[in-house]
Amino acid sequence: MFLPLRSQIVWELVEPGVWKGVVGIPEKYSLLGVAGVTPNKEGFSRLPDVELPSLAHEIVGTLQDGKTALRIPLDRKEQLYGFGLNFQTVHQRGKILNLHVDHYGRKDDGRTHAPVPFYVSSNGYGVLVNSARYLTVYAGSGARKDSPDAPVAKDRNTDKTWTAAPYSDAVSILVPASGVEIYLFAGPTPMDVVRRYNLLCGGGTLPPRWGLGFTLRTHKLYSDSDVRKEADEFAQKGFPLDFIGLEPGWQSKAYPCTFEWDKKRFPDPSGFVKDMADRGIRINLWTNPYVSPDSEIYDEMYPVSGSHTVWCGIVPDLAGEKARKLWADKLEREHVSIGVGGYKIDEVDGYDRYLWPDVATFPSGVTAEQMRQTYGLWVQRITDGIYRKHNRRTYGLVRASNAGASSFPYVIYNDYYNHRDFITALINSGFCGVLWTPEVRSSKTAEEWLRRIQSVVFSPMAMIDAWSSGLKPWSFPEVADNVKEYALLRMKMIPYWYTEFARYHFDGIPPFYAVNLEPGFAFREQKNEKRLTDADLEDNPYLEAVSKEIKDQYMAGGSLLVAPMFAGETNRTVVLPVGDWYDFYTGEYVGNGERITVSPGLDRIPVFVKDGAIIPMMEASLHAPKTGQKMNLEIRHYGKSDGTYYLYDDDGETFGYEKGEYSWREIKVTRDGNGKLKGSISKAVKGKPDNIASVTWKFMTEK
Ligand code: GAL
Repeated sequence: MFLPLRSQIVWELVEPGVWKGVVGIPEKYSLLGVAGVTPNKEGFSRLPDVELPSLAHEIVGTLQDGKTALRIPLDRKEQLYGFGLNFQTVHQRGKILNLHVDHYGRKDDGRTHAPVPFYVSSNGYGVLVNSARYLTVYAGSGARKDSPDAPVAKDRNTDKTWTAAPYSDAVSILVPASGVEIYLFAGPTPMDVVRRYNLLCGGGTLPPRWGLGFTLRTHKLYSDSDVRKEADEFAQKGFPLDFIGLEPGWQSKAYPCTFEWDKKRFPDPSGFVKDMADRGIRINLWTNPYVSPDSEIYDEMYPVSGSHTVWCGIVPDLAGEKARKLWADKLEREHVSIGVGGYKIDEVDGYDRYLWPDVATFPSGVTAEQMRQTYGLWVQRITDGIYRKHNRRTYGLVRASNAGASSFPYVIYNDYYNHRDFITALINSGFCGVLWTPEVRSSKTAEEWLRRIQSVVFSPMAMIDAWSSGLKPWSFPEVADNVKEYALLRMKMIPYWYTEFARYHFDGIPPFYAVNLEPGFAFREQKNEKRLTDADLEDNPYLEAVSKEIKDQYMAGGSLLVAPMFAGETNRTVVLPVGDWYDFYTGEYVGNGERITVSPGLDRIPVFVKDGAIIPMMEASLHAPKTGQKMNLEIRHYGKSDGTYYLYDDDGETFGYEKGEYSWREIKVTRDGNGKLKGSISKAVKGKPDNIASVTWKFMTEK
């Protein structure tokens, strides 16, 4: 008879508030191992001291059938968030997921671009399963007969409360390996859990400043002169442009790829890249990693590639050093060394019908399944490494990722193109250490075009991807001025975006996240940090929102709540967490802990600001400030409370910030003797970056 081997887990403290437990004998090849994470130790010091969550002692690991089963208890009222980049749901409790890297297939079933096996509980703890296998997750589904809190049987004939999915008191996860590492993260708040996860992964990425400007991907068959013409047009029309993405046609052959420039369309790559740099525009190159028989590296790569091909190209075995080096050297030689700013690494996610099948083998011995789960991590880590070697930051796009990726300078995108679901993905990205762009490709109407532009401007990458449509920001003349206004707003907000990303790096706070991570929300704490009593919450209409799933509004940085409008809508409801909120454009009070309805008109995406928030902005410009370029700041204050904000600054381009070459300047808004708001900003510390030329204050609410 088969007897499962049950064990209670011994927890080892690995970082403050992060414990590791081991069940059976974990495989050597893991997600965090592939990502090569180095925890950001300093960042942990700014989190509260916490003890091992008591549920740790109730977590059970069982070896059965050559696999590992994990069981993590749940409370009746607990909600779960995360499990990777989901597109249609934020609440994960009750879901059954098969975590599997894939192109998103219109269902939140675990197959997605970043199926990160990490979840956050509304009770303020988190769990990561560090396995590079396809995991089956029962996120509160299935009831044990011996559960102390088992559901009671009901008669379906007569009892209306009968349900097909009775209450389950645990998350169960099946790992197809005879052992696994599991990480447990303490809070106390859900946001603290996310911070600890991101810090364990090295802290979030800090893009170069130019990465936070505006970008366009040109039509796939553009030549160098087409690209130059496009850049000229942007400049003439006054539209900002920081980097241009070249789609497949820059390569001599694509699908599979040579990684070599097409000599007809780009006869002088280095002259072209340099010319564009002189205009303040970087070049980003599309590629997939599958090697064409016509690539110079094909023969050498052949023995270190997988058994199966993708579009008849060989698949570098990136788990092996030789393949990594061959590929990295090629990219470095052909692109990075001539100044190319970054990559869009496509097709590392799926679909099944063209990627290597699960029966494929790789010379490193890593299985096809493990390779599928980690290929996106490898391409990010390898390319990040090339740029680190050159002491230049990059910021690019990738279509697959997994746990451990927080510090990689990559944003996920896909071909799914559902505006509403793109916003839900943006919300979910904040739970799992990845970034997501609701990119704009094409639109049926001018209204849809503008609505999509408005939301992409409040996202990690403000991008038009015209690889197929060939559209330009001004392609819909009726809304061209509005599009320009929002593209320029993106540029004006660079000091804010840059600082919010610095908080991602130094403190692990995601730059875009769900309202569920707001203190006035999941943790039911008020802004002034006085705990609300249950009675307060009973009277609060906002309570309703705690149990109601919110999929269409998100936080952009710690101060802004964005509520996108979708084509065809003229009004919408917005749930405001506890605390006073103000209109971003007018500074007017809009509400506190309540559900409001807004009808903003086509020219506005609703954005709300926290009481006392300080938003540092700069003058509109066509390119992000270069290293050492001075900015004229416009510092906005909203609401009635005093405010403090720490503005981050560094050279914007290199890794000097990792060696302390940065500054945080304290911005304060307080009332003077007459009760009038007054602002002040501290001087940069001597010898540290100081890029501010002038400051204008704007008190948005008390003008
Ligand atoms: C797709 C990708 C698009 C575009 C296209 C070019 O796979 O998602 O964004 O790059 O390839 O062929």
